[in-house]
This record gives sequence, structure tokens and C-alpha cells, in this order.
Amino acid sequence: MKYDKIELPYSYNALEPYIDEETIRIHYTKHLQAYVDKLNKALEGYEKFTNGKTLEEILSNISKIPKSIRQTVINQGGGVANHNLYFSILSPYPKKYPEGKLLKEINKAFGTLDNLKEEINNVSINQFGSGYGWLVRDKHGKLKVLNTLNQNTPLSCGFTPILTIDIWEHAYYLKYKNLRAEYVKNIWNIINWEKVEELYK
Ligand SMILES: [Fe+2]
Repeated sequence: MKYDKIELPYSYNALEPYIDEETIRIHYTKHLQAYVDKLNKALEGYEKFTNGKTLEEILSNISKIPKSIRQTVINQGGGVANHNLYFSILSPYPKKYPEGKLLKEINKAFGTLDNLKEEINNVSINQFGSGYGWLVRDKHGKLKVLNTLNQNTPLSCGFTPILTIDIWEHAYYLKYKNLRAEYVKNIWNIINWEKVEELYK
């Protein structure tokens, strides 16, 4: 079984002006593709550990992967899963506000949607080095904001990620240079709550 990147659900320039065409093109066709290729290469010969399993299942049970390739799977497999989530929750025509059960849980955990955004912005801006800011749910449906380093995924800690902001410099540097906070603030214009609701369910 080969793992792959998602089909990009919009064109490279569709997220402008918030994320520029060149950034999306390089991020998707070069960075994400490199994670895909290195993951599949690392898994060659280890099919009995991956057969029939989704990448999310593998990362959720990472201790089942042999030690000799485990860190590579965390890095490269996380790179594939995290980017696939990131690209899938962005949209040029986003649903601007969450509704229903998700909104109820957001209000319960954070008070308001604006508080939630502020909390994700803070963990994203303050993440030292490369990583991600996340909104995740636990197995009872409770929401939590957290950040991770490098390509580590909340899947490996028992959480289901439903929203993520890639805060590696490659995600924003061409347009925003050192201004990570500007990128993080602007990305809310293209986060599609319809997709986040779907993932929450
Ligand atoms: Fe990235």
C-alpha cells in the first residue's frame, strides 16, 4: 500500500491574497511530495506492519512500528498526514463560522469562537522552531488546543486533529518573511469550517 498526498481541492493561486501561488505550489508539489516519497521508501519491506492500515491508523499506534524505522515514520508519515489535513481545511470559499455540535463544544471549551482563535494563534506564534498549531478532539468529543514540534501529530497522543495551522517557515516565508503572526492571523480568512465540522463528526 502506497501512501499519497490528497488531491488539492483548489488551484495554486486560489488562496490569494492570504497565501500566494508560489508558496502553495512549492509546499504541495515539493515539500509534501518529498514526505510522501520518503515515507513510502522507508516502509518498503515493512508491509506486514502497514497492510490494510490508513496512515492515520499507523500514526495512532506508532509503537507497533519497528524501532528501526519508527522515527522516520513519525517524521515522514506525520509530514504526509499533517499536510493532507492542512491543505484540506483551506478553501477559497470557506464556510466562515462553525455551527451545531462543534460550535456548542467550542463555546463550552473556550467561551467564544474568537477566544478559540486567539488560543490557536498564541500557541502557533509561540511554537519555538517548526511545527503546527492544532484544534483536536478527544475520544469523548471534548476540544483542546495544542501545538507540536516538527512533524509530530496529535494522533500519536490519542487525539483526533480537526484543524491545523502549518507554522513551518516554508508555509509562509515567501510572502510574510519573518512575520509569522501576520500569516497566522490571515489564515482564518480561508479556513473552511464546513470541513472542520465534518472532521469533528
Ligand atoms: Fe508544511
